[in-house]
Amino acid sequence: MAILVLNFGGQFCHLIARRIRELGVRSEIIPFDLPAEQIKAMKPEGIVLSGGPSSVYEKGSPHPDHKVFSLGVPILGICYGMQLLASELGGKVEPGKVREFGRQTVSITDPKCELFDGLDKEQAVWFSHGDRVTKLPTGFAESASSADGILAGMYDAKRNFYAIQFHPEVAHTEKGTEILSNFVFKACKARKDYDPKARGQALIGFYKKEIGQKKVLMAVSGGVDSFVAATLLHKAIGDNLYLIFVDHGLLRENEAEDVHKSLQAIGFSEKNYKLVNASKQFLTKLKGVSDPEEKRKIVGHEFIAVFEAHALKLGKEVGITYLAQGTIYPDRVESAGISSNATDKIKSHHNLTLPEKMNLKIIEPLAEFYKDEVREIGKSLGVPQSVLSRHPFPGPGLSVRVLGEIDPHKLELLRKADAIFIQELKESGYYDKVWQAFAALLPVKAVGVKGDARTYEYIVSLRAVNSIDGMTADWSKLPHWLLEKVSTRIMNEIRGIGRVVYDVSQKPPATIEYE
Ligand code: XMP
Repeated sequence: MAILVLNFGGQFCHLIARRIRELGVRSEIIPFDLPAEQIKAMKPEGIVLSGGPSSVYEKGSPHPDHKVFSLGVPILGICYGMQLLASELGGKVEPGKVREFGRQTVSITDPKCELFDGLDKEQAVWFSHGDRVTKLPTGFAESASSADGILAGMYDAKRNFYAIQFHPEVAHTEKGTEILSNFVFKACKARKDYDPKARGQALIGFYKKEIGQKKVLMAVSGGVDSFVAATLLHKAIGDNLYLIFVDHGLLRENEAEDVHKSLQAIGFSEKNYKLVNASKQFLTKLKGVSDPEEKRKIVGHEFIAVFEAHALKLGKEVGITYLAQGTIYPDRVESAGISSNATDKIKSHHNLTLPEKMNLKIIEPLAEFYKDEVREIGKSLGVPQSVLSRHPFPGPGLSVRVLGEIDPHKLELLRKADAIFIQELKESGYYDKVWQAFAALLPVKAVGVKGDARTYEYIVSLRAVNSIDGMTADWSKLPHWLLEKVSTRIMNEIRGIGRVVYDVSQKPPATIEYE
């Protein structure tokens, strides 16, 4: 049982499922064109038609199986989803004269509509659309309208169909959670029984039985997903789990030791943990390379080579049956695409050839969870807070933060500067307020004076961003006193860095990382 979200490619599709799960009800995203028979077999308590970038009247725009509307299941259409309900059920959709975008006020014109139970007449909501419904579909009545008279909501109480032109899933819609809650509990009469922690416990029991005494191998990076996946599996199968951590020499200060300590803290046995120090191999391959894509390719390729070599060795020693990965729900949905025809495109995130070479079965214990849920599960399993609150760190590590050619000296300077920045963020309480923060080394030298001497040293750029999912990001407005403290420390404590700048670029057009 779940509320199913049909994915029409909207940027907020994941937010809809996340919000519903936060209400304590299971929610899954499914391809928009899944046949109604298959949808029925999933026994949905309700169906949400998500937003999307298309226009319903355009040729080739995504439409669901029309039989979805005869399943007798409550439906909520959001934005593009509302327009679909209109166009599929006898209404009319036309391009708007103005594109409504951003925060607006709508009036609830029919308080009998269950979707708006308990809400005031005027509501602050978030719009993002160009098209609008100009004729109600058969059986529908208006439930809300925007300030300039555009239809903002409609419903058919008999069939339990609801539609809104705005987005209840985004925080700018002030009563969005209440609207989704009305749909989930009043229209769908769903039960509040979804709890990721309980699901995590159930998975531990499942893997205990499924894996038994067979051996599982996993690469850990110190990142939240792989660490929580490893902890869950460790609870299930104990010493039958083997972990490999590849130190590619592009890690931050003390990173390998910190991961080791965190693994010890969860009771992971030393003999099952292999730290592979491959720094020399990586740095040799990267020597003289300054093209960002080339650097990424080299690191990716070497990582697979190192991991595979050790996996093969371990396989010979103890015999490995499974390869575990820290894939989470958005990775899985994204690689599946929005159409059910695209499911064959699902690809492994590591592009490993190992599963075939060693005939390994893949397990992905966290594939049904969102990041917040992964953290919640991790917390319940005793994963240290330092791991759970860790900022994202890219697979290619510092290679994408030392611009241009990499050498051990530049890496050392960057490590020191980054460590100072992160330490000050943690001490001031700002580490948990920003989504990601780091230092990058710019490969140009600037003139300065230290003491009586003229200097000619590298520039470090500090980057801190606020973001929800890394797709877009705003630079963090860190207080000047904090930036000043970090800058003073970096220039006083690190010989070789003569200037510190703060990056005030938004994404887009800039990216979060530098390469
Ligand atoms: P960009 O730089 O594309 O980064 O704005 C968005 C988010 O993704 C992270 N990132 C990576 N993560 N492997 C990863 O595991 C990578 O190659 C990679 N590149 C970027 C980045 O740190 C940010 O959080």
